[in-house]
Amino acid sequence: MNKHVCKAVFPAAGLGTRFLPATKALPKEMMPLVDKPIIQYGVEEALASGCDQIIIVTGRGKIAIEDHFDVSYELEKMLEERGKADLLAIVRQISEMVHIAYVRQKEAMGLGHAVLMARELVGDQPFAVILADDIIDAEVPCLKQMIEVYNETGCSVLATQVVEGPAISSYGVLDATTVPGQWNGRLFEVKDLVEKPRPQDAPSNLAIIGRYILTPTIFEMLASTEKGAGGELQLTDGLKQLLKKENIYGFTFQGKRHDTGDKLGFLKATVEFALKRDDLGKDFREYLKTLEL
Ligand code: G1P
Repeated sequence: MNKHVCKAVFPAAGLGTRFLPATKALPKEMMPLVDKPIIQYGVEEALASGCDQIIIVTGRGKIAIEDHFDVSYELEKMLEERGKADLLAIVRQISEMVHIAYVRQKEAMGLGHAVLMARELVGDQPFAVILADDIIDAEVPCLKQMIEVYNETGCSVLATQVVEGPAISSYGVLDATTVPGQWNGRLFEVKDLVEKPRPQDAPSNLAIIGRYILTPTIFEMLASTEKGAGGELQLTDGLKQLLKKENIYGFTFQGKRHDTGDKLGFLKATVEFALKRDDLGKDFREYLKTLEL
């Protein structure tokens, strides 16, 4: 078994109903934060973490994602003719960035099912899963931090964050104990996991965030897991089965997570990313100050 984490799976077959009508014809993964589609942030994080083999699980209506990472001859020719060297470089860099394999998930049957669709392309090696909705702004890419934990432990690693109050019901939740030592209380040994519990049933306030390093045993587990919450095959339920065979760790990453799958989260991320931009930040900050809030 290749023990090096070099493949990253992006489940991207979801319908994006929370952003209708924008997502009627546009994949939600293509919604831009300032001027870059959400999924490109995730792909760049994977590359910066040493995962150069990208697998995107798509579905009907998602062709714009494939076009985005492909060469666009007409656009490149037009930019070349008009002498727009800077834009040409941006457009070329996207298609040159990475090789991507696509697999279709024919029906939206859950996150666990989406991951299972990547089984043949991943093969018998540990791999990453990135949920592109969760954008993590970090000095060291979140996935890179998690791969370091995987390299030390050899076990699956789930990104976690404390979520207070009833909002915990929107997440997979860990029952876990802190591992003392090296990671300064940021590493947890998972005892159990529950997908979207009622607030009173949540075993802790440690929520699973959309970054996973998984051992290939997860595929066997998912293949024999029954449908769970919402009549879908849940990744969290597959992980519960995996726990019977292998240790799993939760890891509190360093960095700021933006939930761009939520309208308010999307707006907050847009404002924060725009403020950080060299070309926009100053003017945008001035503009925001003029608003009567
Ligand atoms: C999925 C997972 C959930 C996890 C969340 C992180 O839920 O099922 O366990 O906590 O992603 O964003 P979704 O947000 O797709 O409903």
